[in-house]
Amino acid sequence: MTVGPGDPLHGRSPHVPVLLRPLLAAVAPVGGVWLDGTFGAGGYARGLLAAGATQVIGIDRDPLALQMAATWAGAYGDRLTLVHGTFSNLADHAPLDGIVLDLGVSSMQLDLAERGFSFQKDGPLDMRMSQDGPSAADLVNTAAEETLADIIYTYGEDHASRRIAAAIVRARDAEPITTTLRLAEVIQSVLPRPKPGQSHPATRAFQAIRIAVNTEFDELSQGLAAAELALKPGGQLAVVTFHSLEDRIVKRFFQLRSGAEANTNRYAPERAEDAPRFTLKTRRAVTADEAELAENPRARSAKLRIGTRTAAPAGRSENAALGVPMLPDKPKKGRR
Ligand SMILES: C[S@@+](CC[C@H](N)C(=O)[O-])C[C@H]1O[C@@H](n2cnc3c(N)ncnc32)[C@H](O)[C@@H]1O
Repeated sequence: MTVGPGDPLHGRSPHVPVLLRPLLAAVAPVGGVWLDGTFGAGGYARGLLAAGATQVIGIDRDPLALQMAATWAGAYGDRLTLVHGTFSNLADHAPLDGIVLDLGVSSMQLDLAERGFSFQKDGPLDMRMSQDGPSAADLVNTAAEETLADIIYTYGEDHASRRIAAAIVRARDAEPITTTLRLAEVIQSVLPRPKPGQSHPATRAFQAIRIAVNTEFDELSQGLAAAELALKPGGQLAVVTFHSLEDRIVKRFFQLRSGAEANTNRYAPERAEDAPRFTLKTRRAVTADEAELAENPRARSAKLRIGTRTAAPAGRSENAALGVPMLPDKPKKGRR
């Protein structure tokens, strides 16, 4: 896909950065080399450069995001480097003075029907941020019913997961599900009509399928571990999340790494590897104020957490300790 005159995103302000003002205030004074692991429309990268970062490395797994930045990135010369890749590999760019991660999808990705993320716009059932590898249609049309139910339950916390998975399998047996609206229709067909003010019935299942297609939780846990390796002592890590499963991982990471989580074994000797690797810059998550909410409703569910790296050596990271939602090894029948 290209972006040029006539394309739906051409000339539009594509994505309003969320929580950027409180983030920049919390990490000030900004200097040295920062890495923006979720470059998107570059709102954070530009904010960091304006705030005094000597250099920003912007990573995005979506080639379109980087292509869109080509029109303006050159103006920053050597101060801005763009990299196509995933933030799980950010340690390749160590040592760093700061890292920002603004998780999830951008407004450009959601707004372009052909990217297949939205249940409100008809498009191919795609959902791949990187535009390669298996798509949502591949998953929905080939995965076992139990696997689909596990994904929808574990990554979407949808208690109707079994009913939804059964409906998907019934529908695809008649004809493959290839569009976003068809999938939304199939999901809706087995769920109660939403009451006024409730979200669309397909919201959770779509979130779950997107997380599975983009292996988002593996990316997050590996990205946090990589940040611990890559930051200099005194370097800062700021993470913005958009749903409770993501926020729980980031919160647990900072709790465990800062020693805010009490040692559960009181007989354990003090070990060097238990020394705090981060200090918490923000005790509670920072959320959007009224002014930002009025400007940008997308900020409603955003949470920002920030930690400062200590000089303690980096340690091992375990998904179970971080509360990373994990699919059962073998899908079990009749669990839900
Ligand atoms: C919410 S947007 C970021 C918006 C950005 N902060 C801005 O101000 O424009 C998230 C972006 O991160 C990218 N992304 C998500 N997960 C990623 C990952 N694991 N590695 C690299 N990029 C990722 C998405 O493709 C998307 O462009």
